[in-house]
Amino acid sequence: MNFNEILTKKVNGKKLNYEEIDYVITNFTKGIISEDEMSKFIMEIYKKELSFKETLYLTNSMIKSGELLDFSGINKVIVDKHSTGGVGDKVTLIISPIVAASGLGVAKMSGRSLGLTGGTIDKLESITGYDVNLDKEKFITQVNNIGIAVISQTNKIAIADKKIYALRDKIGAVDSIPLIASSIMSKKIASGADIIIIDLKVGKGAFMKDTKSAKKLAKTMIKIGKIWNKKVVIILTDMNAPLGKSIGNALEIKETIDFLNGTYRDKRLKTLSIEISAYMISKGKNIALKKAKNLAKNILETNKAYETFKNWIQSQGGNLEELKDKAKTIEVYSDKSGYISEIDANEIAQICNELGSGRTGKRIDIDYGVGIVLNKTLYDEIKKDELLATIYYNNKINKHLEEKLKNSIKIIGIKPKEKNIIISVIS
Ligand code: URA
Repeated sequence: MNFNEILTKKVNGKKLNYEEIDYVITNFTKGIISEDEMSKFIMEIYKKELSFKETLYLTNSMIKSGELLDFSGINKVIVDKHSTGGVGDKVTLIISPIVAASGLGVAKMSGRSLGLTGGTIDKLESITGYDVNLDKEKFITQVNNIGIAVISQTNKIAIADKKIYALRDKIGAVDSIPLIASSIMSKKIASGADIIIIDLKVGKGAFMKDTKSAKKLAKTMIKIGKIWNKKVVIILTDMNAPLGKSIGNALEIKETIDFLNGTYRDKRLKTLSIEISAYMISKGKNIALKKAKNLAKNILETNKAYETFKNWIQSQGGNLEELKDKAKTIEVYSDKSGYISEIDANEIAQICNELGSGRTGKRIDIDYGVGIVLNKTLYDEIKKDELLATIYYNNKINKHLEEKLKNSIKIIGIKPKEKNIIISVIS
Protein backbone atom coordinates (compact mmCIF):
# COMPACT_ATOMS: atom_id res chain seq x y z
CA MET A 1 0.00 0.00 0.00
CA ASN A 2 1.27 3.50 -0.76
CA PHE A 3 -0.15 7.02 -0.79
CA ASN A 4 -0.30 7.44 -4.57
CA GLU A 5 -2.22 4.19 -5.05
CA ILE A 6 -4.78 5.27 -2.45
CA LEU A 7 -5.12 8.76 -3.92
CA THR A 8 -5.55 7.33 -7.45
CA LYS A 9 -8.24 4.96 -6.21
CA LYS A 10 -10.17 7.94 -4.77
CA VAL A 11 -9.62 10.05 -7.91
CA ASN A 12 -11.12 7.18 -9.92
CA GLY A 13 -14.24 7.25 -7.77
CA LYS A 14 -13.55 3.95 -5.94
CA LYS A 15 -14.42 3.44 -2.28
CA LEU A 16 -11.58 3.25 0.26
CA ASN A 17 -11.43 0.66 3.03
CA TYR A 18 -10.41 1.27 6.66
CA GLU A 19 -6.78 0.20 6.20
CA GLU A 20 -6.31 2.64 3.31
CA ILE A 21 -7.89 5.62 5.13
CA ASP A 22 -6.00 4.80 8.32
CA TYR A 23 -2.73 4.56 6.34
CA VAL A 24 -3.20 8.15 5.10
CA ILE A 25 -4.32 9.59 8.46
CA THR A 26 -1.62 7.84 10.51
CA ASN A 27 1.19 8.75 8.13
CA PHE A 28 0.05 12.36 7.79
CA THR A 29 -0.13 12.68 11.58
CA LYS A 30 3.42 11.30 11.84
CA GLY A 31 4.65 13.74 9.17
CA ILE A 32 5.48 10.98 6.66
CA ILE A 33 2.80 12.12 4.21
CA SER A 34 3.49 15.77 3.34
CA GLU A 35 1.06 18.70 3.51
CA ASP A 36 1.07 18.92 -0.30
CA GLU A 37 0.13 15.26 -0.66
CA MET A 38 -2.51 15.49 2.05
CA SER A 39 -3.98 18.62 0.42
CA LYS A 40 -4.65 16.55 -2.73
CA PHE A 41 -6.35 13.82 -0.68
CA ILE A 42 -8.47 16.35 1.27
CA MET A 43 -9.48 18.14 -1.96
CA GLU A 44 -10.66 14.82 -3.45
CA ILE A 45 -12.87 14.26 -0.40
CA TYR A 46 -14.05 17.88 -0.60
CA LYS A 47 -15.04 17.53 -4.28
CA LYS A 48 -16.42 13.99 -4.32
CA GLU A 49 -17.56 13.56 -0.69
CA LEU A 50 -17.30 10.17 1.05
CA SER A 51 -19.73 7.31 1.59
CA PHE A 52 -21.01 6.88 5.15
CA LYS A 53 -18.68 3.91 5.68
CA GLU A 54 -15.66 5.94 4.54
CA THR A 55 -16.70 8.83 6.82
CA LEU A 56 -16.90 6.39 9.73
CA TYR A 57 -13.46 4.95 8.90
CA LEU A 58 -12.04 8.47 8.79
CA THR A 59 -13.60 9.28 12.18
CA ASN A 60 -12.33 6.04 13.73
CA SER A 61 -8.81 6.62 12.47
CA MET A 62 -8.84 10.19 13.81
CA ILE A 63 -10.04 8.98 17.24
CA LYS A 64 -7.21 6.44 17.30
CA SER A 65 -4.64 9.17 16.53
CA GLY A 66 -4.87 10.41 20.14
CA GLU A 67 -5.97 9.45 23.66
CA LEU A 68 -9.44 8.41 24.81
CA LEU A 69 -10.39 10.24 28.00
CA ASP A 70 -11.37 8.09 30.94
CA PHE A 71 -14.06 9.40 33.29
CA SER A 72 -14.30 6.29 35.45
CA GLY A 73 -13.40 8.35 38.57
CA ILE A 74 -16.48 10.55 38.14
CA ASN A 75 -19.57 9.48 40.08
CA LYS A 76 -22.08 11.33 37.87
CA VAL A 77 -23.59 10.81 34.43
CA ILE A 78 -21.49 12.96 32.09
CA VAL A 79 -23.20 15.00 29.40
CA ASP A 80 -21.37 17.04 26.80
CA LYS A 81 -22.33 19.86 24.49
CA HIS A 82 -20.63 21.16 21.37
CA SER A 83 -21.32 24.23 19.29
CA THR A 84 -20.13 24.60 15.73
CA GLY A 85 -19.30 28.21 16.57
CA GLY A 86 -21.43 31.30 16.86
CA VAL A 87 -20.95 35.02 17.34
CA GLY A 88 -21.66 36.09 20.93
CA ASP A 89 -22.10 32.40 21.79
CA LYS A 90 -21.88 32.19 25.59
CA VAL A 91 -24.26 29.21 25.80
CA THR A 92 -21.69 26.80 27.33
CA LEU A 93 -21.17 29.24 30.22
CA ILE A 94 -24.92 29.37 30.86
CA ILE A 95 -25.99 25.76 30.35
CA SER A 96 -23.09 24.13 32.22
CA PRO A 97 -24.24 25.40 35.66
CA ILE A 98 -27.91 24.70 34.84
CA VAL A 99 -27.12 21.09 33.92
CA ALA A 100 -24.69 20.63 36.83
CA ALA A 101 -27.28 21.93 39.31
CA SER A 102 -29.64 19.19 38.07
CA GLY A 103 -27.16 16.57 39.39
CA LEU A 104 -25.42 15.68 36.13
CA GLY A 105 -21.71 16.12 35.38
CA VAL A 106 -20.24 18.56 32.87
CA ALA A 107 -16.60 17.54 32.38
CA LYS A 108 -15.60 19.72 29.50
CA MET A 109 -12.63 20.53 27.38
CA SER A 110 -13.14 23.66 25.34
CA GLY A 111 -11.08 25.50 22.79
CA ARG A 112 -9.51 28.87 22.24
CA SER A 113 -10.70 30.36 19.04
CA LEU A 114 -8.49 30.76 16.02
CA GLY A 115 -11.17 32.80 14.29
CA LEU A 116 -12.73 36.24 14.52
CA THR A 117 -13.98 36.10 18.11
CA GLY A 118 -12.83 34.27 21.23
CA GLY A 119 -13.67 30.66 22.17
CA THR A 120 -15.04 29.50 25.55
CA ILE A 121 -11.53 29.24 27.03
CA ASP A 122 -10.69 32.81 25.94
CA LYS A 123 -13.87 33.99 27.65
CA LEU A 124 -13.01 32.12 30.87
CA GLU A 125 -9.46 33.49 30.77
CA SER A 126 -10.88 37.01 30.88
CA ILE A 127 -11.67 36.22 34.55
CA THR A 128 -8.54 36.97 36.60
CA GLY A 129 -7.10 33.82 38.15
CA TYR A 130 -9.21 31.23 36.27
CA ASP A 131 -7.06 28.12 35.80
CA VAL A 132 -7.68 26.43 32.44
CA ASN A 133 -5.21 23.59 33.15
CA LEU A 134 -6.40 21.51 36.11
CA ASP A 135 -4.62 18.21 36.62
CA LYS A 136 -6.70 15.04 36.20
CA GLU A 137 -7.28 14.49 39.93
CA LYS A 138 -8.46 18.06 40.56
CA PHE A 139 -10.62 17.96 37.44
CA ILE A 140 -12.39 14.79 38.57
CA THR A 141 -12.78 15.98 42.18
CA GLN A 142 -14.34 19.26 41.00
CA VAL A 143 -16.86 17.46 38.76
CA ASN A 144 -17.75 15.14 41.65
CA ASN A 145 -18.17 18.05 44.11
CA ILE A 146 -19.60 20.89 42.03
CA GLY A 147 -20.75 19.16 38.85
CA ILE A 148 -18.58 21.16 36.43
CA ALA A 149 -15.02 21.60 35.35
CA VAL A 150 -14.10 23.33 32.12
CA ILE A 151 -10.48 23.22 31.01
CA SER A 152 -8.53 23.87 27.85
CA GLN A 153 -8.46 21.13 25.23
CA THR A 154 -5.30 19.08 25.56
CA ASN A 155 -3.23 18.42 22.47
CA LYS A 156 -3.57 14.71 23.14
CA ILE A 157 -7.06 13.91 21.86
CA ALA A 158 -7.81 13.37 18.15
CA ILE A 159 -4.34 14.64 17.21
CA ALA A 160 -5.00 14.09 13.49
CA ASP A 161 -7.97 16.49 13.61
CA LYS A 162 -5.84 19.46 14.64
CA LYS A 163 -3.43 18.93 11.74
CA ILE A 164 -6.14 18.21 9.20
CA TYR A 165 -8.29 21.13 10.35
CA ALA A 166 -5.39 23.58 9.98
CA LEU A 167 -4.76 22.27 6.46
CA ARG A 168 -8.48 22.48 5.54
CA ASP A 169 -8.50 26.07 6.72
CA LYS A 170 -5.45 26.85 4.59
CA ILE A 171 -6.74 25.26 1.36
CA GLY A 172 -10.37 26.34 1.74
CA ALA A 173 -11.88 22.91 2.41
CA VAL A 174 -13.77 23.52 5.64
CA ASP A 175 -17.43 23.27 4.59
CA SER A 176 -17.54 19.58 3.68
CA ILE A 177 -19.98 17.19 5.36
CA PRO A 178 -17.66 14.15 5.77
CA LEU A 179 -14.80 16.40 6.93
CA ILE A 180 -16.88 18.31 9.48
CA ALA A 181 -18.65 15.14 10.71
CA SER A 182 -15.37 13.29 11.29
CA SER A 183 -13.72 16.34 12.87
CA ILE A 184 -16.49 16.97 15.41
CA MET A 185 -17.29 13.34 16.18
CA SER A 186 -13.67 12.24 16.60
CA LYS A 187 -13.12 14.95 19.25
CA LYS A 188 -16.42 14.34 21.01
CA ILE A 189 -16.08 10.54 21.11
CA ALA A 190 -12.47 10.80 22.34
CA SER A 191 -13.63 13.27 25.03
CA GLY A 192 -15.46 10.45 26.78
CA ALA A 193 -19.09 11.55 27.32
CA ASP A 194 -21.88 9.11 26.45
CA ILE A 195 -24.43 11.85 25.83
CA ILE A 196 -23.56 14.55 23.33
CA ILE A 197 -25.77 17.50 22.41
CA ILE A 198 -24.60 19.45 19.36
CA ASP A 199 -25.69 22.99 18.59
CA LEU A 200 -25.34 23.03 14.82
CA LYS A 201 -25.43 26.61 13.57
CA VAL A 202 -27.04 27.43 10.25
CA GLY A 203 -26.86 30.79 8.45
CA LYS A 204 -24.58 33.65 7.47
CA GLY A 205 -22.30 33.41 10.50
CA ALA A 206 -21.97 29.58 10.22
CA PHE A 207 -20.20 26.85 8.21
CA MET A 208 -23.56 25.43 7.14
CA LYS A 209 -25.34 28.10 5.13
CA ASP A 210 -28.58 26.16 4.50
CA THR A 211 -30.87 23.81 6.43
CA LYS A 212 -30.74 20.97 3.87
CA SER A 213 -26.99 20.43 4.15
CA ALA A 214 -27.11 20.97 7.94
CA LYS A 215 -29.66 18.13 8.22
CA LYS A 216 -27.46 15.84 6.13
CA LEU A 217 -24.48 16.62 8.38
CA ALA A 218 -26.63 16.03 11.49
CA LYS A 219 -27.78 12.59 10.28
CA THR A 220 -24.21 11.55 9.51
CA MET A 221 -23.02 12.54 13.01
CA ILE A 222 -25.93 10.75 14.71
CA LYS A 223 -25.19 7.56 12.76
CA ILE A 224 -21.50 7.70 13.78
CA GLY A 225 -22.58 8.30 17.41
CA LYS A 226 -24.90 5.26 17.37
CA ILE A 227 -22.09 2.98 16.22
CA TRP A 228 -20.00 4.23 19.17
CA ASN A 229 -22.96 3.74 21.55
CA LYS A 230 -23.34 7.48 22.16
CA LYS A 231 -26.66 9.27 22.45
CA VAL A 232 -26.39 12.24 20.10
CA VAL A 233 -28.98 15.00 19.74
CA ILE A 234 -28.44 17.73 17.16
CA ILE A 235 -30.20 21.06 17.49
CA LEU A 236 -30.16 23.11 14.29
CA THR A 237 -30.14 26.78 15.27
CA ASP A 238 -30.25 30.07 13.42
CA MET A 239 -26.92 31.91 13.28
CA ASN A 240 -27.77 34.91 11.16
CA ALA A 241 -27.58 37.31 14.12
CA PRO A 242 -25.29 37.32 17.20
CA LEU A 243 -26.48 35.58 20.37
CA GLY A 244 -27.38 38.00 23.14
CA LYS A 245 -26.29 41.62 23.33
CA SER A 246 -22.56 41.30 24.09
CA ILE A 247 -19.78 40.17 21.78
CA GLY A 248 -16.25 40.12 23.21
CA ASN A 249 -14.60 38.01 25.90
CA ALA A 250 -15.00 39.86 29.23
CA LEU A 251 -18.21 41.47 27.94
CA GLU A 252 -19.71 38.00 27.39
CA ILE A 253 -18.75 36.97 30.94
CA LYS A 254 -20.63 40.03 32.19
CA GLU A 255 -23.68 39.09 30.11
CA THR A 256 -23.48 35.53 31.48
CA ILE A 257 -23.50 36.86 35.06
CA ASP A 258 -26.45 39.16 34.27
CA PHE A 259 -28.26 36.27 32.61
CA LEU A 260 -27.74 33.85 35.49
CA ASN A 261 -28.63 36.33 38.27
CA GLY A 262 -31.69 37.54 36.35
CA THR A 263 -30.59 41.14 35.64
CA TYR A 264 -31.00 40.71 31.87
CA ARG A 265 -31.98 37.70 29.79
CA ASP A 266 -31.93 38.05 26.03
CA LYS A 267 -34.93 36.19 24.60
CA ARG A 268 -33.18 34.18 21.84
CA LEU A 269 -30.29 33.32 24.15
CA LYS A 270 -32.75 32.12 26.79
CA THR A 271 -34.77 29.99 24.35
CA LEU A 272 -31.60 28.30 23.10
CA SER A 273 -30.04 27.82 26.55
CA ILE A 274 -33.20 26.25 27.97
CA GLU A 275 -33.61 23.99 24.92
CA ILE A 276 -30.01 22.71 25.09
CA SER A 277 -30.15 22.27 28.89
CA ALA A 278 -33.47 20.41 28.55
CA TYR A 279 -32.05 17.89 26.06
CA MET A 280 -28.93 17.36 28.19
CA ILE A 281 -31.03 16.82 31.34
CA SER A 282 -33.64 14.66 29.56
CA LYS A 283 -31.04 12.31 28.06
CA GLY A 284 -28.79 12.36 31.15
CA LYS A 285 -31.54 11.59 33.64
CA ASN A 286 -33.70 9.60 31.24
CA ILE A 287 -36.76 11.78 31.90
CA ALA A 288 -39.33 13.32 29.54
CA LEU A 289 -38.21 16.43 27.69
CA LYS A 290 -41.05 18.53 29.14
CA LYS A 291 -40.09 17.59 32.70
CA ALA A 292 -36.44 18.34 31.91
CA LYS A 293 -37.36 21.74 30.47
CA ASN A 294 -39.34 22.65 33.61
CA LEU A 295 -36.43 21.55 35.76
CA ALA A 296 -33.98 23.68 33.73
CA LYS A 297 -36.26 26.74 34.03
CA ASN A 298 -36.69 26.18 37.76
CA ILE A 299 -32.93 25.88 38.32
CA LEU A 300 -32.44 29.18 36.49
CA GLU A 301 -35.28 31.04 38.21
CA THR A 302 -34.33 29.94 41.74
CA ASN A 303 -30.73 31.14 41.29
CA LYS A 304 -29.35 27.61 41.68
CA ALA A 305 -27.57 27.97 38.34
CA TYR A 306 -26.00 31.27 39.43
CA GLU A 307 -24.77 29.76 42.71
CA THR A 308 -23.31 26.77 40.83
CA PHE A 309 -21.63 29.14 38.34
CA LYS A 310 -19.96 31.11 41.17
CA ASN A 311 -18.80 27.91 42.91
CA TRP A 312 -17.37 26.57 39.65
CA ILE A 313 -15.44 29.74 38.78
CA GLN A 314 -14.16 30.14 42.36
CA SER A 315 -13.08 26.50 42.51
CA GLN A 316 -10.95 27.04 39.40
CA GLY A 317 -9.34 30.12 40.98
CA GLY A 318 -11.34 32.79 39.12
CA ASN A 319 -12.31 36.10 40.72
CA LEU A 320 -15.56 37.40 39.22
CA GLU A 321 -14.95 40.79 40.85
CA GLU A 322 -11.83 41.17 38.71
CA LEU A 323 -12.54 40.77 35.02
CA LYS A 324 -9.90 41.78 32.48
CA ASP A 325 -12.32 44.34 31.13
CA LYS A 326 -10.21 47.47 30.75
CA ALA A 327 -11.50 49.45 27.74
CA LYS A 328 -12.64 52.87 26.59
CA THR A 329 -16.07 53.31 25.05
CA ILE A 330 -17.72 55.01 22.09
CA GLU A 331 -21.49 55.19 21.84
CA VAL A 332 -23.13 54.73 18.46
CA TYR A 333 -26.59 56.21 17.89
CA SER A 334 -29.28 55.21 15.41
CA ASP A 335 -29.78 57.32 12.26
CA LYS A 336 -33.44 56.36 12.00
CA SER A 337 -36.50 55.01 13.78
CA GLY A 338 -37.92 51.55 13.16
CA TYR A 339 -37.41 47.90 14.06
CA ILE A 340 -34.21 45.87 13.93
CA SER A 341 -34.77 43.20 11.27
CA GLU A 342 -31.20 41.93 10.81
CA ILE A 343 -27.87 42.04 12.62
CA ASP A 344 -25.13 40.62 10.43
CA ALA A 345 -23.24 38.20 12.70
CA ASN A 346 -20.30 37.99 10.33
CA GLU A 347 -19.85 41.78 10.10
CA ILE A 348 -20.11 42.15 13.88
CA ALA A 349 -17.49 39.43 14.33
CA GLN A 350 -15.17 41.19 11.89
CA ILE A 351 -15.50 44.47 13.78
CA CYS A 352 -14.74 42.72 17.08
CA ASN A 353 -11.72 41.09 15.48
CA GLU A 354 -10.45 44.48 14.28
CA LEU A 355 -10.85 45.73 17.85
CA GLY A 356 -8.65 42.83 19.02
CA SER A 357 -11.01 40.15 20.33
CA GLY A 358 -9.97 37.35 17.94
CA ARG A 359 -6.82 35.70 16.64
CA THR A 360 -6.95 36.04 12.89
CA GLY A 361 -3.90 37.23 10.97
CA LYS A 362 -0.69 37.46 12.96
CA ARG A 363 -2.27 38.25 16.31
CA ILE A 364 -1.46 35.81 19.11
CA ASP A 365 -2.64 37.74 22.18
CA ILE A 366 -6.22 38.80 22.26
CA ASP A 367 -7.63 41.84 24.03
CA TYR A 368 -10.14 40.55 26.59
CA GLY A 369 -11.79 43.92 27.24
CA VAL A 370 -12.83 44.93 23.71
CA GLY A 371 -16.01 44.20 21.80
CA ILE A 372 -19.52 45.44 21.21
CA VAL A 373 -22.56 45.69 23.45
CA LEU A 374 -25.78 46.10 21.52
CA ASN A 375 -28.31 48.32 23.24
CA LYS A 376 -31.06 46.89 21.04
CA THR A 377 -31.16 43.37 19.63
CA LEU A 378 -33.05 41.56 16.89
CA TYR A 379 -36.75 42.59 16.53
CA ASP A 380 -36.44 45.49 19.05
CA GLU A 381 -37.94 48.89 18.30
CA ILE A 382 -35.50 51.82 18.13
CA LYS A 383 -35.95 55.58 17.80
CA LYS A 384 -33.77 57.97 15.79
CA ASP A 385 -30.83 59.19 17.95
CA GLU A 386 -31.38 56.40 20.48
CA LEU A 387 -28.33 54.40 21.57
CA LEU A 388 -27.78 51.53 19.13
CA ALA A 389 -24.60 50.02 20.55
CA THR A 390 -21.42 50.73 22.49
CA ILE A 391 -17.98 49.93 21.12
CA TYR A 392 -15.36 48.88 23.70
CA TYR A 393 -11.83 49.55 22.46
CA ASN A 394 -8.27 50.02 23.64
CA ASN A 395 -6.12 50.85 20.63
CA LYS A 396 -6.78 53.82 18.43
CA ILE A 397 -10.10 53.24 16.74
CA ASN A 398 -10.70 53.75 13.07
CA LYS A 399 -13.73 55.93 12.32
CA HIS A 400 -14.99 53.48 9.68
CA LEU A 401 -15.80 50.93 12.40
CA GLU A 402 -18.71 53.04 13.62
CA GLU A 403 -20.13 53.17 10.08
CA LYS A 404 -19.51 49.45 9.61
CA LEU A 405 -21.38 48.76 12.84
CA LYS A 406 -24.34 50.88 11.75
CA ASN A 407 -24.40 49.19 8.34
CA SER A 408 -24.44 45.73 9.89
CA ILE A 409 -27.71 46.49 11.69
CA LYS A 410 -30.74 46.75 9.41
CA ILE A 411 -33.64 48.91 10.59
CA ILE A 412 -37.01 48.71 8.79
CA GLY A 413 -40.31 50.57 9.15
CA ILE A 414 -42.60 47.68 10.10
CA LYS A 415 -42.20 45.14 12.87
CA PRO A 416 -40.56 42.03 11.35
CA LYS A 417 -41.98 38.55 11.89
CA GLU A 418 -39.90 36.86 14.60
CA LYS A 419 -38.14 33.65 13.55
CA ASN A 420 -37.61 30.92 16.13
CA ILE A 421 -33.92 30.43 16.87
CA ILE A 422 -34.50 26.65 16.95
CA ILE A 423 -34.86 25.40 13.37
CA SER A 424 -35.25 21.69 14.17
CA VAL A 425 -34.03 18.92 16.45
CA ILE A 426 -32.69 15.62 15.11
CA SER A 427 -31.87 12.54 17.18
N1 URA B 1 -16.12 22.36 14.20
C1 URA B 1 -15.17 21.39 14.25
O1 URA B 1 -14.74 20.98 15.33
N2 URA B 1 -14.71 20.89 13.09
C2 URA B 1 -15.16 21.31 11.89
O2 URA B 1 -14.73 20.79 10.88
C3 URA B 1 -16.14 22.32 11.84
C4 URA B 1 -16.60 22.83 13.03
